[in-house]
Order: sequence, then structure tokens, then C-alpha cells
Amino acid sequence: MDIHENYRRFYYFFRDISGLVHSCTRVDEILELVVWKSSIELQAKGALVSIIDTKTNHVDLFASHGIGEKYLSKGPLSRKDIIKDLCRLNKAVVIEDLASDPRVDFPQELMEDGVVMLLDIPLNLRDDLIGMIRLCFTDKRKFTPEELEFVVAVAEQFSCALDKARLIEEKQSQYDQLAMQTEKLSALGRMAAGIAHEINNPLAGILLFSSNTLKKAPEEGPIKQALEVIIREAQRCKSIIQDLLEFSRDRQLEKVMAGMNKAVEKALSILGNEVRLRRISVEKNLAPGLPEIPLDLNLMQQVFVNLFMNAIEAIGQNGVITIQSRTSPDGRKQRIEVSDTGCGIPEENLSRIFDPFFSTKSNGTGLGLAVTYGIVQKHGGNIQVFSKVGQGTRFLIEIPVQQG
Ligand SMILES: Nc1ncnc2c1ncn2[C@@H]1O[C@H](COP(=O)(O)OP(=O)(O)O)[C@@H](O)[C@H]1O
Ligand SMILES: [Mg+2]
Repeated sequence: MDIHENYRRFYYFFRDISGLVHSCTRVDEILELVVWKSSIELQAKGALVSIIDTKTNHVDLFASHGIGEKYLSKGPLSRKDIIKDLCRLNKAVVIEDLASDPRVDFPQELMEDGVVMLLDIPLNLRDDLIGMIRLCFTDKRKFTPEELEFVVAVAEQFSCALDKARLIEEKQSQYDQLAMQTEKLSALGRMAAGIAHEINNPLAGILLFSSNTLKKAPEEGPIKQALEVIIREAQRCKSIIQDLLEFSRDRQLEKVMAGMNKAVEKALSILGNEVRLRRISVEKNLAPGLPEIPLDLNLMQQVFVNLFMNAIEAIGQNGVITIQSRTSPDGRKQRIEVSDTGCGIPEENLSRIFDPFFSTKSNGTGLGLAVTYGIVQKHGGNIQVFSKVGQGTRFLIEIPVQQG
């Protein structure tokens, strides 16, 4: 084959494969394509693609084409040695001596399949090795240096397409999660509203009659004490019911032009005593000229009361709560951050803390953050949490300046 013909072949192959992989948006589709296309184009018996798991540093098989079950069922398909080699050399590596090369895991099974030579091609992405393609040949082949360089360049196309597809899948799964959360919240909201209404009336009766009886109870003795307990506990139930109703209520917000800083200050003044008693210091870093935006001030104040209460409870005694407010660089959102130096949230709980009734506290209702989430959403905003156990937690709220 003369050199021009060779380049033409390379060109068509490259054009074909780039078009194909870049039109895929699913990771598994791309990987299937990688093994299938590379086996055909390089006339190999089969191919495998393995991806490095950055968390465990293992090399996991993701797709294969034309490889015998016996070999595939053997478990991990490539060793760290080969990965190190590919990293170091950053080019395709030919392995001819299958039986004794340490980079081949199960030579016997491969050779039984008729394989006599392997070609390992690195999958690079932005200077990092993310995996490799291993091609299996049943005849010994000679590759020119240009051919080897070419396959590495094609593999780079695969890596880019793979990266893009991963990103799309990640975004899709975030979106699905959000949609599920919203659906779950609204179903629970409807249920909660029903229960709360049912309990609200008898509870009002219990509170009314026990308060009246308390007035008539003898000053000393067990009856007064018992009534006080009944009233205290009934009041606690009432506040839970109030939270539930707030969480489930689908009412219109009463928005006025108001400052976020004002909502923060009002919430702080409610909890000032608690903060002082527990020797918690509050560091305020509130942007002085923060423009007023349409807010339901009472509800927004509730948001910060909930966040501060959680921060106080997470700290216990002696710690710092930091509050920062600012406008986003593009001026379209206001951002409020509430950080604490408390106990932090274990990773496995992070996705559950906004669920109604999720609480790790013996006397918690698990409604504070569900209510908070709902209020922020009704303002067209979003809330995110970042936390490390033993270090603390940071909540970031973003509210758009212009709301629909
Ligand atoms: N600042 C925080 N630090 C540590 N854990 C938190 C914090 N805020 C919330 N949490 C966790 O989220 C859970 C749910 O919070 P919330 O909805 O306010 O309910 P509750 O406070 O009644 O438990 C808490 O029980 C706690 O485990
Ligand atoms: Mg709470």
C-alpha cells in the first residue's frame, strides 16, 4: 500500500469514527462502538475497553467484542503494570509474548482463543489516562509507527466523546433526581396536609380544655403538674402541625420588595438568646448595598430560623456560625451562605436531609429543611449543601433577583 493510499484510509476511518462517536450521547453506546469499530478497522479478532475507576484505582472492563467467554469470565482484565506502562509511554504498546508478559492476566485463556498478539492503546483525556483499549489478534502483525500514532489519535476522539457522554448522563441523572424529589415532596405534601388538618382541630380542643382546667387546678399537687405536661406536649404537637401545614400549603406567596439581609437579621434576633447561652459566635458578612427583591419576608425569615436552628444544634456549644450575603457576579441572583463549625453531615445522609421527616435527632421533626426547600423553591431559587463530618456544614441559597 503506498503512503497516499494509507493516508486516505486513515482519513476516512478517522472521519467515520469521529462522526459516529460524537453523535452518541450514551456512555455504553460509545464503548460498544469503540470495541466494535476498532476490531473491524484493525482486523482484530476482538477488543476490550477498560476504564480506570479513579476512586478505587482499579481497571474495570466496560465493553468487549469478539472475545471468548472463558477469558471474560476471569475477572479483572488488565493489571496495573500495563496502566503504568501506558501512562509512562503515552503510546500504543504491542505485546507479543503473551505467555510470559506480566501485563497479560490470563494468557492461557487468550491463547486457547487463538490470540497471539495484543495491542494496548491508551485512552487519554486532558493529559490523564482514563482507560485503555486492548485489541486481540490471531496473527502476528507489524504496525508502522504512523499506524500506532494514528490509533492513539483515534482513541483520543473516543475519550472526548466518552467525556461528553458522561457529562450528559450525569446532568440527566441530576435532573431525574430533582424531578423525583419534587414529585415525592408534592405527594407527601398532600398527605401531610390531610393529616395536619385532621389533627389540628382535636389538638385545639385539648389545648383549650387543659388550659382552662389548669386555671382551676389546685396550686400544689400532681394534677397541676400533669396538666402542665399535657399543655407543653400539645403545644409541641401544634408547632409540628404548623410546620406540616406550612410545608404542604400551596398558597401564593405574599411578596413585597425586601432585603435578604433583613430576613437574616430578623431570624438572628429570634435566636439571639440561644446563641449567647451556648457561647456560639456569629460572624456576619452581609453585603451592605444588597438590592431589595420580591420576598415573602415571613417565609424567608423562617428559612433562616430553620438553618440557624440546625447550625446551633449541630454545634452544641462553642462554635461559629458564619453568614454571608452577596450578589452573584452576573447580578442575576442573590446568594446567602450559612456555615457552621458543627458536627457535619455524613455523605450518605446528604441526599436525604431535605426529605420530610428525615431527622437524626431524638426530638427532631425532620420538617425544617423540607419547609426551607419548599420556600426557596417558591421564590424560584435553589439550595445546596456542602458538608464534612467533624468539620462543619455550609448551606448556599440562591434567589433570583427577577422572579417570574
Ligand atoms: N447544619 C447542620 N449540621 C449538621 N446536620 C444538619 C444540619 N442541618 C441539618 N442537618 C441534618 O439534617 C436533618 C434534617 O434537618 P431538619 O429538616 O431541620 O430536621 P430536624 O432539625 O428536625 O432534624 C437533621 O436531623 C440533621 O441530621
Ligand atoms: Mg431542623
